[in-house]
Amino acid sequence: MGREIRKVAIVGGGVIGAAWAARFLLNGIDVAVFDLDPEVERKTLEVVANARRAQTRLHGAALPAEGKLTFAGSVAEAVADADFIQESLPEREDLKQRVLAEVDAAMPAHAVIGSSTSGLLPTKLQNGMQRPDRLVVGHPFNPVYLLPLVEVCGGDQTSLETIDVASALYTRVGMKVLHVRHEIDGFIADRLLEAVWREALWLINDGIATAAEIDDAIRFGAGLRWSFMGTFLTYRLAGGEAGMRHFLHQFGPSMEWPWTKLVGPKLTDELIDTVAAQSDDQAAGIGLREYEALRDSCLVDIMHALERNDFASGAVAKAYRTSLQGKEAVTLGSDCGDGHLLTQHTPVMPEWIDYNDHLTEWAYLKLFGDATDVVLARIGAGPDYVATGFSFYTVETHIRHLGQARLGQKVEVRTRVLGSDGKRLHLSHEMTNLDSATLIATAEHMLVHVDAKAEKSAPAPQHIAQAMQGLAAAQQHLAPPDGAGRSIKMPG
Ligand SMILES: NC(=O)c1ccc[n+]([C@@H]2O[C@H](COP(=O)([O-])OP(=O)(O)OC[C@H]3O[C@@H](n4cnc5c(N)ncnc54)[C@H](O)[C@@H]3O)[C@@H](O)[C@H]2O)c1
Repeated sequence: MGREIRKVAIVGGGVIGAAWAARFLLNGIDVAVFDLDPEVERKTLEVVANARRAQTRLHGAALPAEGKLTFAGSVAEAVADADFIQESLPEREDLKQRVLAEVDAAMPAHAVIGSSTSGLLPTKLQNGMQRPDRLVVGHPFNPVYLLPLVEVCGGDQTSLETIDVASALYTRVGMKVLHVRHEIDGFIADRLLEAVWREALWLINDGIATAAEIDDAIRFGAGLRWSFMGTFLTYRLAGGEAGMRHFLHQFGPSMEWPWTKLVGPKLTDELIDTVAAQSDDQAAGIGLREYEALRDSCLVDIMHALERNDFASGAVAKAYRTSLQGKEAVTLGSDCGDGHLLTQHTPVMPEWIDYNDHLTEWAYLKLFGDATDVVLARIGAGPDYVATGFSFYTVETHIRHLGQARLGQKVEVRTRVLGSDGKRLHLSHEMTNLDSATLIATAEHMLVHVDAKAEKSAPAPQHIAQAMQGLAAAQQHLAPPDGAGRSIKMPG
């Protein structure tokens, strides 16, 4: 144990298994899937495509090169060379026990198994395994490729090392591990979700509210707070300056009132018909895939917003992105192969879109500015250099808009140094929409090296001047960029 996890086997590739496959693949880990469903390949590829779209919007160019996806013909074939196995079979104890024993017998000696079970006890799942110490529950939330939470819970025979290996892997792929220290039915999260679900079913059963009304009661109120503060922090604030103690005293008496029923209603055929019909009405003919796309889009936007506040899931996403530094599939600042420098490679993010659904004007300048920063880092004038009191300031910019890019499309910026005299740096950027393979903008910048404290231009130190001139010389063979040196004027 303790070695790097390069390959994961997914046993059971349904809703949850396919999404686990996507999360691992998008983190550069090879994945083998085994499922009895003859359509497993098509279904998995669809989920991976959704996950790729969502994760690319969430993390942009930070994602590493994807792992390799294979489909196995048996449990033994899937797990034979796997470092980690994520079991995601239907929620039936006997089935899981039987297949887990098979996995255990065929997996390498160092491998560890995480079970996706929503509520079965790991101590029971370990029954029948020769190496029960290797099993731990890793309970995720749908969609697994976006939601960070995973509950990790060991059984009586789970080793601490197994818990550590699973927790380290889940953290590596961008998740927030909640260690469930006491093995209980439903763990922590599903205990809470079940309580709300039971009450919701009662409200329908008793004819008090419809499915849509109950969802409104959550999504326009508490649901918004829950996504970043949970229950206790929210109620602490509801107690005002006197805090939680006051809140408990004020609302304590209602605890004695029978507001909630906690034990769910009997799931009669009639109740099932009512709930299903109300749910169909609520969905109003909108299909599963459309709702999934809407859900993923909203989740990404919420996480972006939380990231700006460095809070809750946003802090997890930010830490994850930092952990990916240096592993990106593309290396900004590297040679494109034709002499240009690759200085941006990113999907168009939602906050860069205007009312025409296109990349908006200021976003071009932002992307070109970020591209310039990549060049500056490449010549040794990155943030560390700026901290010494020197920098490059942009003194002139000319942008030409030649085409469009829409939300989610990938754009790339290629850059060359047109000239440098040891103090000035003349850059030319070209932005391509990779999805339509068209040049959509060019930018030309003049930068001047400055002594920031003295607020005056100054010659760059020798190592930076040499790096600038080195780049310009290496790119001299390139034909002059189209539009360089142009100014704005009326035609004719
Ligand atoms: N759906 C959720 O929201 C959710 C959330 C968290 C955890 N879970 C847990 O994840 C697990 C899987 O749930 P799901 O929602 O993905 O179910 P699912 O029915 O979508 O997927 C189960 C898959 O297992 C396959 N399968 C059945 N028997 C098999 C066998 N013997 N060998 C190989 N494959 C077999 C099925 O073909 C199916 O594709 C369950 O333990 C569930 O509790 C589900």
